Amino acid sequence: MAALSLDPDKYENDLELEKIRRERNYSWMDIITICEEKLPDYEEKIKMFYEEHLHLDDEIRYVLDGSGYFDVRDDEDRWIRIFVEKGDLITLPAGIYHRFTVDEQNYVKAMRLFVGQPVWTAYNRPADHLEARKQYLTFLAQSA
Ligand code: LAC
Ligand code: NI
Repeated sequence: MAALSLDPDKYENDLELEKIRRERNYSWMDIITICEEKLPDYEEKIKMFYEEHLHLDDEIRYVLDGSGYFDVRDDEDRWIRIFVEKGDLITLPAGIYHRFTVDEQNYVKAMRLFVGQPVWTAYNRPADHLEARKQYLTFLAQSA
């Protein structure tokens, strides 16, 4: 895939971002700022984000400022830590177990993108009975 050259400082008026959204049907977007001053129920949310969970849809985040870590499980159930920072666009596939934490800066501002009407429900592990989980495992087995 071609490298992205999105400018996070221009997210409000970025033709390239619009193109990606159009091509991938990312119809929904909003902005979340994760820091103590701006996020209501900060402590509680931080705890929730760091609980191992999955979603029925892709989790798509475009980091506009700050940084943090996504941990995802690999095909042998080991944690892989992914550092994300300003300018990064990350997609966690539906059904993958993951968690998120801020780093020492305690600050990340991210665009949440979604195909269709957003559903943010997190299913904490174990959630192996869910169809999205089964489909993800099938996909993993096929790409092995
Ligand atoms: C979420 C991230 C933090 O579900 O995994 O919003
Ligand atoms: Ni999540």
